Amino acid sequence: MERIYFDNNATTPLDPAVREAMLPYLNDELFGNPSSGHWFGEQALAGINKAREQVAGLLNCPPKRIFFTSGGTEANNTAIWSAVSAFPERKHIISSVVEHASILQPLEFLQQRFGYTIELLPVGRDGSLDLQQLAEGIRSDTALVTLMGANNESGVIFPIEEIGAICGDKKTLFLCDAVQLVGKEPVNLENLNIDYLAVAAHKLHGPKGSGALYVRRTAPFIKMIMGAGQEMDHRAGTENVSGIVGLGQACELAGKHLAKGNSEIRSLRDTMQERILQEIDEAIVNGAGQPRLPNTLNVSFKNCASGAMVQELDERGVAVSAHSACHSGDLDPSHVLRAMAVPETHIHGTLRISLSRFNTSREVAVFCDMLPGIVAKSRQGVAV
Ligand SMILES: Cc1ncc(COP(=O)(O)O)c(C=O)c1O
Repeated sequence: MERIYFDNNATTPLDPAVREAMLPYLNDELFGNPSSGHWFGEQALAGINKAREQVAGLLNCPPKRIFFTSGGTEANNTAIWSAVSAFPERKHIISSVVEHASILQPLEFLQQRFGYTIELLPVGRDGSLDLQQLAEGIRSDTALVTLMGANNESGVIFPIEEIGAICGDKKTLFLCDAVQLVGKEPVNLENLNIDYLAVAAHKLHGPKGSGALYVRRTAPFIKMIMGAGQEMDHRAGTENVSGIVGLGQACELAGKHLAKGNSEIRSLRDTMQERILQEIDEAIVNGAGQPRLPNTLNVSFKNCASGAMVQELDERGVAVSAHSACHSGDLDPSHVLRAMAVPETHIHGTLRISLSRFNTSREVAVFCDMLPGIVAKSRQGVAV
């Protein structure tokens, strides 16, 4: 059976050129420990240093401000840890209701364990933030503002330039979880007032278990993973050299693709959206009124069950996502859809379709031909 992969916000396939770049570091050639003083160590260290330049190249920042991590989760946790450890007297943090668990969980921990006040900004029906509410919410004891670059479910892009400006005015640290944004839209740190920015390789055709944290020169940094002095004493532990090399290569390729613009992927997504809205009644596109990632389509169908639709599509070779963990065959709508107040009639019938540069218009057509029947079948199975 032909398989079509439309779940690229969950993870992306490795680009063959990324695999090529990684392979020498996985075989018996370039296996050295980057901390070793001999040739083998130097080769590994050279691979890491090149990757640092490649990541910095994509983000337009000095390479020495990039620190490698085990992925987006560790990058986010490290930035939060840094900000709260640097200013232990500041016990207030602002974030949003639609953040990823790698932000929300550490914040909940700080609240429950250490009495922090965590203010989660709501979003509108279209997934947008109220920037005035952000500006008014920042206090003298605010340790950090942490807001994502783009939402993993809706694809809605937050205005990080304006958010950065507000944080700059109020002299508050700003962490941007850019795991979904980097590689899909240009990010130019020179023009942005961002203190910390998180990246994950596996969202941009790099390997899993590899990511990076950008830390601005003026932002405090307190090491979270302690031990030896790797990563310029920012993150202990022998480096995941092949993973880091893969991240670097993925960033370089993403930069080349972005330089050509992202109109191809956007046009695939828009074609899909148009066909769905034309051919299936009672469908709502979530986040449509806001700037959105060009690859993401989040759509809710009236009186449908996401779980049944995802399963049926999977059986027919198409991988999409329903946004949330599956409990006994039924799906609880995610915190993001709840926060966006998707109508109760539609919320249980939501699909997140996320494309990549490896998808084709033929795949989009196959999916669009298949979907109306699957929605109709799901509607028959849902008691209204
Ligand atoms: C917005 C966002 N932040 C953070 C993460 C976590 O990244 P990682 O899987 O590399 O830990 C993800 C992954 O799903 C994400 O979508």
